[in-house]
Amino acid sequence: MYKNLKTILTEAQNLNSTVGAFNAHNLEMVPDMIRAAKDAGAPIIIQTSAGTAQYIGMKTLVALCKSMAEDLLVDVDLHLDHAKTFDDIKEAIDSGYSSVMFDGSSLLFKENMEKSLRVVDYAHARNVSVECEIGTIGGTEEGVTVAEGKYTDPEQAVLFLQKVDVDALAVGVGTHHGQFKSKTQLNWDLIEKLHSKINTPLVIHGGTGVSENDYHRLTNNGIRKFNVGTELLVTWTRTAQRYFGKTEVNQSLRNNIVPCNKAIYDIVLHKSKLFLNKDTKMNVMV
Ligand code: 13P
Repeated sequence: MYKNLKTILTEAQNLNSTVGAFNAHNLEMVPDMIRAAKDAGAPIIIQTSAGTAQYIGMKTLVALCKSMAEDLLVDVDLHLDHAKTFDDIKEAIDSGYSSVMFDGSSLLFKENMEKSLRVVDYAHARNVSVECEIGTIGGTEEGVTVAEGKYTDPEQAVLFLQKVDVDALAVGVGTHHGQFKSKTQLNWDLIEKLHSKINTPLVIHGGTGVSENDYHRLTNNGIRKFNVGTELLVTWTRTAQRYFGKTEVNQSLRNNIVPCNKAIYDIVLHKSKLFLNKDTKMNVMV
């Protein structure tokens, strides 16, 4: 079914699992992402930046996600990632996205809270869920670099959640966007502290840089949404370089694109199984 984030994350909370939120960088890769979730027996969050959403078309993405969710009987949430303006958020909600993230992390706390409240009011009135962020995630996303991440202050997060009824909270716990050459050192003391004080589902950003060995412990500490973007971008691009570089004239463009999408399918299948948190001995990719 096509579901909102709150429903999908509540179900994950009941099962003590995490839901993979995979960034779609083009339309081509989306069907294989959803098929992989189906084959893993997992729900999936397909997320797009505002830029990718404009490139593909929000209504096109909604139509695809809805029809595949219904045809394959798989739970799909379509999420707008890191939106910074109310206009982008309104357009996504009006187009049929089932959740949005308002990223007010660069604002002062009070302004972040006020703008988040406005988003929550608009979204919840339309049965759309909202993710907000306290603390910042460093690194590079969509070519924009935030040099230094800032850890989430647990007291500030609690205060924020008392005032703003969000469905998921992104936290700064040592991850960085765009980290694909190495793995990060998570701040476990902070993660455990946040988990002990907060019931709202927590979100990991910069998932590419997180070791798969850490997934199980993160799930047990209240992480319910886990974002993976760069690994998909790098893998699709590298596969495309290999295939498109081989021939100038091909029988069908499909012959070049299918292997790229298959590489995405493999990653989403593998990670979605790990996020289910059923078999902790399952092999992780090294
Ligand atoms: P990565 O691109 O580092 O995997 O992070 C994805 C993300 O957090 C999207 O918001």
